[in-house]
Parts: sequence; structure tokens; C-alpha cells
Amino acid sequence: MSETTIATDKAPAVEVKNLSKHYGPVKALRNVDLTIAAGEYFVLLGPSGGGKTTLLRTIGGFHKPTEGQVLLHGRDMSHLPPDKRPTTMVFQAYALFPHMTVLQNVSYGLKVAGIDRKQAEEKAAAMMDVVGLSGFAERKPHELSGGQQQRVQLARALVLDRDILLLDEPLAALDAQLRKDMCLELKHLQEKVGITFIHVTHNQEEAMTVADRIALVADGNLVEHGKARDIYRAPVKKFTASFVGENNMLSGRVSDVNGVSCTVDVAGSQLVVQKRGQQVAHGQPVDLSIRSELVQLSRANGSNNAGDGHSILGSYDEAVYLGLTTSHLVRLPNGVEMTSRTISDAVDDLPTPGDPVRLHWQPEAIRLHTS
Ligand SMILES: Nc1ncnc2c1ncn2[C@@H]1O[C@H](COP(=O)(O)OP(=O)(O)O)[C@@H](O)[C@H]1O
Ligand SMILES: [Mg+2]
Repeated sequence: MSETTIATDKAPAVEVKNLSKHYGPVKALRNVDLTIAAGEYFVLLGPSGGGKTTLLRTIGGFHKPTEGQVLLHGRDMSHLPPDKRPTTMVFQAYALFPHMTVLQNVSYGLKVAGIDRKQAEEKAAAMMDVVGLSGFAERKPHELSGGQQQRVQLARALVLDRDILLLDEPLAALDAQLRKDMCLELKHLQEKVGITFIHVTHNQEEAMTVADRIALVADGNLVEHGKARDIYRAPVKKFTASFVGENNMLSGRVSDVNGVSCTVDVAGSQLVVQKRGQQVAHGQPVDLSIRSELVQLSRANGSNNAGDGHSILGSYDEAVYLGLTTSHLVRLPNGVEMTSRTISDAVDDLPTPGDPVRLHWQPEAIRLHTS
């Protein structure tokens, strides 16, 4: 490489370093480290009260860190107010000005920023096209559907031309079908405008639909982060497995360690699981997870009762019909309930409650969690 080579790597949009935020005795964030690349659609996912909003608002400058730093595009902005940062926040639909038209709502921020009215309205109209609101310029918010109002909020934020858009539960007020539609629209919108989106939600389907990458946030900690697909298919932490997807969670003790895999005693069954680089010791309590759609169900007929390391015996409880799929609930000898989820009507010869059954899976389908 010659010394005239120009660095093309952009600084990350967001770097959060050792960030803690306390509200009095409440530790809302504990030593969080996180990097978000420019142009990413990034989701903060986790249960209510976990610290997602606090993290988003600290990135946006609405909260000061108790400890640690927030760098935006490589610059430490930990102590700058929101309007001095390259961020803008999308608020809920009900935060629109009710007496103003859509065009006035969208152009308001530009006018406040000193841009002349004609130019502001031209820019606002262009952004309304981008979010699918052309033709609605003269309507008042109450003449719009919930989804349209949410689009006005998006246009109002995007028109300010900041590089990082912060969205806190942006779809929470919408009904289920509209939320699904808007999810896809948000994803396409982000691809169209190309700026960084940071989206907070407690809804895993919403997260999976929109995200390039997801960070799990719970109890003030950043538990795990990764590509949306990896978080779903290959969760490392027990919390992630229990929060994302529909995982069966099993507790057991390591009964044997051998090379790339180990054996775990779960209610007397010896289950073989790949270690995937994790360290375990004989006798150690561990957790296992397996997604319900990767568990198959068959009748236990005596001839298949010998354990093969990838199956477990139980007694059939009930079928829960969910339309496209059916969940078969099976009770293990230790009282734990497991679920096998199949396409509806895929199981012929359905067992009746109390029948002995075997749940089985492909060897790589089950995952080990040591924390
Ligand atoms: N302004 C505040 N004052 C005191 N406690 C707060 C405040 N805001 C949030 N909290 C607390 O901080 C924790 C994290 O809250 P929050 O960031 O809103 O979580 P989430 O968005 O994941 O639901 C919760 O225990 C919440 O009660
Ligand atoms: Mg919140």
C-alpha cells in the first residue's frame, strides 16, 4: 500500500463506551459497550424496563451519562444537547400538531431552523413523497389513519437531514396488521434514505423484520448482539434463547465432556450437545435450548425407548391449534413442558393426552448455554 492510500472506512455512526446511567438508586444502564456502523438498521430489543429507552435517549442527548461516553461519527458528544448532535428522534403519532396540516407539520422543524418557507415546504413535499404521503399535504392529522400519522412523524424527522434516526417503539400504537405493514415500510425506507436507524422495540418479530443487527438489552446490560438471523438461529446467552424465537429451555448437569461435544443429564436423559467453543466441566449446571419447530414428535413404542442422545421421552399433553402451525405440548418426567411445533395436520395418528411420546431433533439443533 502506498502512503497516498486514502482511508475509505468511515467512523462508526455510534460508539458507546462503558456507558452507565443511574436514576438515583436505579441502575438503568451498566457498563454498556456498543458500536453501530453508518447506514445500519440497528434494533435494541428486550423486555420492558430493561434500559432500551435510556440507551436511545442517551445516544440522542436527552440524558447525560453517569459514566462513559457516546461518540457519534467519531466525535465525543457525551455532553452535547440533542440539537447539536447528528441525531433526530421519531416520536409517537400523537405528538403531531393537531391544528396544522400535514405539510405544515413536516416543514415545521425546517422553519424553526431558519429555512425560508418556500424552500422548507419544497423539502417537506419531497420527503412526503419518499414516505408515501403525496396527496395528503392539506389534510389535518385527525383526517389520517394511524399508519399515515406515523408516516408524517417519519417525514418530520427525516426532513431534518440528520444522519442517525432514533425510533422508540415507533409502531407500538398501531394494530397488529398495520404494524406488520409499517415494519416492512420502515425497512424499505431505511434502504432508500441510507442513514443509520436505531429502533427500540420489545417485539421480536418487529425486530427480525427490520434489523440488520440486533442487540438484546435487559436489566441494564447489553446481553448479546449480532446479525438478526444469528441471534435467532444461534443464540449464545440463555437470556437470548428464552427471549427470541420459541425455544424449549432445559436445565441439566454436564455428565460427560468429550472433544467438541458434551453430554448433559436432563431429568435422567443423557442429551448430547456441541460445545461450540464453550468451556464446561463435569457436574456443571448448564442450560440447553432448542427451537420448537426443530423438535419432532413420534409415539414411544418400546422399540425406540433406548436414549440416542438426541431425544427425550415424555407424555403427550395437548395440541394447540394456531392456524398455519400446531403446537404439541409434551410433559417431561421432571414436570417441564416442551413444545414441538409442526405445520398443522402434519402429524397423522395424533396421540391422545397421557400417551407416551418421544421428542427428537437433529444433533446440531440443540444449543448449550453456560451463562
Ligand atoms: N426518569 C426516570 N427516573 C427514574 N427511573 C427511571 C427513569 N426512566 C427510566 N427509569 C427506570 O430505568 C429502568 C430502565 O427504563 P427504560 O430505559 O425506560 O427501559 P425500557 O425502555 O427498556 O422499557 C427502569 O427500571 C425504569 O423504571
Ligand atoms: Mg422504553
